[in-house]
Formats: sequence, C-alpha cells, structure tokens
Amino acid sequence: MCGIVAYIGPKDAVPILLEGLQRLEYRGYDSAGIAVGTKNGGIGHRKVKGRVADLAKALPARLKGGLGIGHTRWATHGEPSDENAHPHLDAAERIAVVHNGIIENADELKDTLKGRGVEFRSETDTEVLAHLIAAAVAQGGELEDAVRRALREVVGTYGIAVLDAERPDRIVVARNGSPIVLGIGEKEMFAASDVAALVRYTRQVVHLDDGELATIRADGFRTDTAKEPATLEVEPVHYDRAGFEHFLRKEIHEQPAAVGRALRGRLDERFHTARLGGLNLDAREIRGFRRVKVLGCGSAYYAGQIGAQLIEELARIPADAEPASEFRYRNPVVESDTLYIAVSQSGETYDTLAAVQELRRKGGRVLGIVNGVGSAIARECDGGVYLHAGPEVSVASTKSFTATAVVFALLAQHLGRLHDLSPADGRRITEGLKALPGQIAGILAEEERIAALAAEYVRYPGMLFIGRVRGYPVAREGAQKLKEVSYLHAEAYPASELKHGPLALVGPELPVIAVVPDDELLDKNLTTLGEVRARRGRVLMVGHRRTDAADDVLLVPANEPELDPILLSIPLQLFAYHAAVALGRDVDRPRNLAKSVTVE
Ligand code: AGP
Repeated sequence: MCGIVAYIGPKDAVPILLEGLQRLEYRGYDSAGIAVGTKNGGIGHRKVKGRVADLAKALPARLKGGLGIGHTRWATHGEPSDENAHPHLDAAERIAVVHNGIIENADELKDTLKGRGVEFRSETDTEVLAHLIAAAVAQGGELEDAVRRALREVVGTYGIAVLDAERPDRIVVARNGSPIVLGIGEKEMFAASDVAALVRYTRQVVHLDDGELATIRADGFRTDTAKEPATLEVEPVHYDRAGFEHFLRKEIHEQPAAVGRALRGRLDERFHTARLGGLNLDAREIRGFRRVKVLGCGSAYYAGQIGAQLIEELARIPADAEPASEFRYRNPVVESDTLYIAVSQSGETYDTLAAVQELRRKGGRVLGIVNGVGSAIARECDGGVYLHAGPEVSVASTKSFTATAVVFALLAQHLGRLHDLSPADGRRITEGLKALPGQIAGILAEEERIAALAAEYVRYPGMLFIGRVRGYPVAREGAQKLKEVSYLHAEAYPASELKHGPLALVGPELPVIAVVPDDELLDKNLTTLGEVRARRGRVLMVGHRRTDAADDVLLVPANEPELDPILLSIPLQLFAYHAAVALGRDVDRPRNLAKSVTVE
C-alpha cells in the first residue's frame, strides 16, 4: 500500500525514480509524485493525481538532480488529488517526505502544529511529518537526529524517505510496520518499499528492521545495527509482462512453473512424505499439537481454508481458517497445543502481521507460509515454508494462491505421516502433487473456451458461486477473483446453505457457478444444481464430468480428491480474467485496491 523509492548517486535521479515508481504501482496508483535535490541547493518537486505515466507527462524538463524521493499513493487520509499526493514539504520547502503507513495521532499533531502557526496544504496524515521534521531540523544537529526526534512524537506505522535541501549528501529513511529495503549500487544507493523497484539496478539489498533508521549516501549506507547485504534471487524479467497483455494473465500461465518450484526438493519419495526444512519443529513437537489454526486475509485466507481442510483430512488434526483481520481484534485465546499458520503472499499484510505479533506475544507457535522472502511476516514467525512462486505483480492473486494450496498439501502430508497417514496414502499424495504442473498446463490450454463463456456471462449483473466442503473455498476464491477484477457482484455460499436463504435470489438473472468435484458429495451437489435450474437459474459447473444438471460445464482433470481444489480453482481465474477483459476493466490495477495492504 503506497510505494516509496529513493535514489542518491551520480546519475539524474528523475528517470530512476519514475522507473522505480512504475514497478511499485501495484502498491497504489491514485496519485504519484517526486522531489529532487536540485543543483542550486533547493528541492524541485511535482505531484499529480493519477498514474505514474501522468506524473511523467507533467514533469518539467528542468527538473533534474542527483538525489530524489518518489511515491505512488493509495489514499487513506484525503481523496486522491494533486495536493494530497506525496511528497509533502514544510512551509520553507527545505524538507520533503514520502510516507507509506498511517500516522494515528495525526489529528492531535496537526492541532499542535496549527497552534504554532503551521499552515497545512493537504488533508493527509503525512504532512505532519514534514512539519515535525522541519521543526526538529531547525533546532540544529544532524538530519538523522532530527528525524528520530520527530518520529518520537508519532504513533502509527511508517516507511519514510526524507530529503533535506541543505544536506544534499544524504537521504534518511526509517521504518515502523511498513517495509523499507536499501539497494547497494556502484557509488550509488537506492531505497524502496519493495525490491521490485531495485532489481534493475542492483542485486545487493539490506532489509531494515522495524524501528530502524538508515542514511543512504552515494558511497554507502549506515543502519542502526550492523547488517549483511543479501543477494536478490529475482530477475528484472520477473517484473515484465513478457509479451502478455496483462500481468494477471502472465501469472495465471506461470502456474505450472510456480507449482514446480513450490514442490522442488520437497518430495520425499522414500518415506512418502514432504521435506520442509524451515519448520523448525521436530517430530515430537509436531505430535504435541492438538489443533491447527490458519490465518490470512482475502485470497490468502481462502487458500488457508483449503489448507485447513487438507490438514484435517490428511493429518486428522482439527484445523480451521479464520481471517487474520478478525482474529487480531477479538482478544483470541492462544493455546500452547495449537499450531498457528500465517499465510501471506507479500509477507507484509498489516492485519496478518499484527495477528502473528499478538500470537507471539502470548507465546503461540506460528509458522509462516509466505512468498515474500525476508518479509516482515516471514521474519516474525518461528519457522515456515516459502512459496517460491516468484514475484506476483497483478493485484489479484493467482499463482500465489495455487502455490499456497500446494505448500499446504506438503505440510498436511508431512503432519499426516507423523500421525496416521499410511505410506500408501503418502505415496498417493506425492504422485498427485507430481501430476499437478502438467494438469494445470492442460487446463490453461482450454483458455479460449473459458474466455468465450466469460464473455457470455458478463451480461448478467452478478453471479452466485457455490461449492460443498472441498468445493467451498474454491467457490469463495472464484467469487473473490470475479468481483475484484470485473466489478461484477459475486457472492459465494456453501452449496448446502443455498436452500436456507440465497436460493431466493436465483432466477434467470442470477446464474450459479458451481464447483462440483467428482467426490463422495457429487450426488448431493447435482441435486442442488437441479434446484437451481428448477428456478430457471443458469448453471455453469466446474467439475470432472459432463452432466445434464448444468447448462455449461468446464472440465478439469481429476487428481487425488484432497488435491482437486487446486485444479478446480484454475478455470475460475481465467473466467474472472476474461470477464474483466470483456468489460474493459483495468485488469492489473482494479479500482480501490492495492497489492499489499500494509495499513489497518
Ligand atoms: C487477492 O486477489 C487479493 N490480492 C487480496 O485478497 C490478498 O490475497 C490479501 O490482501 C492478502 O494479501 P497477502 O497474501 O499479501 O497477505
């Protein structure tokens, strides 16, 4: 949520900042701005409502400088506008600040500053930082000390970059709850909210810790604690569309490879289990857990629901999933014999991070299933498993959803084999997992037919997604994808609940998208479809066999029943994508959303 980038070095900062902001646009895209330290010792800046491309068009050619900061915004305080866009400057335009996060006591600080005669030009919480830092700088001392003193007055979360017109040899950055990563170049330094903005320039990075402040200069950096740079594994090409018209479609098509990476080196074919080195739990500890609680937000939560079902089925440990955003607010009872699992693609989602912190504070044992290597959630957990899905740029999760379900299958197999899952069942799951990449590729080859159906169904004002037990989280994720990218109303219900209420909605104007695996519940599901059609509701079934109970059928290959949800999800991703394309939506940057929700 909001992207920050900073550069200091021998080159002109402007093109580097613009390029970085473009890479960060998935974090927010309602306004953008940059500020650069100019040759005459001042700060030049420009900020506009709209996209980074709009900012690039609005930049005066004379705006150049060897250091600068940039921002792409997802509005929290104040609507998207030129005034509310970052950077924010103090009255003398000596200090410029970009900020990701929320200053909770901004109103109180504003009142105090107004009492001292400060005039505010925006409705944002961030502007208080510019004035507080300017006031601290005016008291003398180093910029770093002034930023530190100003931040002491602040309650809330931040990742900030600060430019001081009178200290053009440095940029100060700080983090508390919102990520900041430093990039080390040849006689140049970078900072950003995400490595996406850095990979084109450097592979050497340093992640700041919460509460830490750092200075970057052209010839190096200084952090509060000694830090070894890490080498990035991602390539710039991972952040390109690679010939696809949208990142979303590219990422859907990357799933066979992403699943292959999630499985690589983790299948133990000797003992028919999974090798998960990062759990930091021995067999005895694992056998001591009586329950599993999975936490995540949005699609990560739905993938976690598939995961909880897998654990319950394969390991026979009671397991359930809950939105992390609810869990953290309800003063949860934390049990020592419960294994908690936090799920997050970004590893930055604030609600999930807060849930993990609350669990750790109360002594809970937390594993992370995370894509973002070195991310805040990954670092906060006791152990975990990385997805290795590769960077996911499109706001709508697809390959991370699938990779999460695959990692849960590995974890469930591992837990199961330490309990009562037989070697034969362990082998069955291993073989099923090995078949997944090829089967997913087979489903993707059906894209044309799925696109044709999506183009037909977008004439309906909304759709009801249903599924029973294994099919239910798939239905929820299918509805989530559709509403997110197409803006069509989509609601998911357990198929078994239909007749308890939502059936009243069904008619010629509300089609039903039914997830119907060929499992022990097939007959019950077909009966439900009959009930829908008796009310003249059109049925699109995603399943394993053709049936007269549906108007349209999207077939997927069968795997082991426990793994079927993974495959059943794929056509619904393509369905949502093509529905959005048919409606002319901004597929990769749906309105009102951002990729990483780093605010409460
Ligand atoms: C899904 O398409 C969305 N991007 C959203 O629901 C997402 O899954 C949620 O915000 C959690 O993000 P995370 O996986 O990065 O924690």
